[in-house]
Amino acid sequence: MKIADIRRSYVKDKLDLDQLNPDPFVQFETWLQAAIAAELPDPTAMCVATVDANGQPSQRLVLLKDVSPAGFVFYTNLGSRKANELSINPKVCLHFPWHPLERQVIVYGEAQRVPTSQVLQYFLSRPKRVSSLHGLQSKVGRFQLGRRYCRNLRKLSINLNMVKFLCLHFGADF
Ligand SMILES: Cc1cc2nc3c(=O)[nH]c(=O)nc-3n(C[C@H](O)[C@H](O)[C@H](O)COP(=O)(O)O)c2cc1C
Repeated sequence: MKIADIRRSYVKDKLDLDQLNPDPFVQFETWLQAAIAAELPDPTAMCVATVDANGQPSQRLVLLKDVSPAGFVFYTNLGSRKANELSINPKVCLHFPWHPLERQVIVYGEAQRVPTSQVLQYFLSRPKRVSSLHGLQSKVGRFQLGRRYCRNLRKLSINLNMVKFLCLHFGADF
């Protein structure tokens, strides 16, 4: 089949401005819940677009972890391309591709680092936090991993610099 022949009719709904909530965050929440209820795969997945120093855009999927009038939150590895680019140019664009519902949301804004306490809270809530701390875990034996984990846990309780370390290794298990 030719790519140009792939098409379907988009008939599910129409966007009626009068029906939209005047608060975009309330509207977003309504549509996010609709995406969850429709059992879309990864309903919280969003495409994050950043630009490099030459103005070259790049994009990738990440998972939304929180949303409020304060902003849209995702967690990533601070050593990643997106984190590097955002540290130089915080302008960012998010895209929620809910196309099975014939719907998409695009968010324009500037990225900011979330407070350390929030990063820690999220990290500690993760079921796979050991592996996210050790992106290269396939290269170390179980015993070594155990020792490193204990060492890291000890640091965690006494040293807030640890947070930087956690951030640096976020995303390693995706
Ligand atoms: C469904 C899905 C969800 C993902 N969620 C995240 C995420 O929440 N955080 C993250 O850093 N990477 C996530 N990734 C991996 C990113 O898409 C990307 O490959 C990685 O972060 C490196 O991106 P960068 O080198 O452009 O910065 C996800 C990938 C997929 C396919």
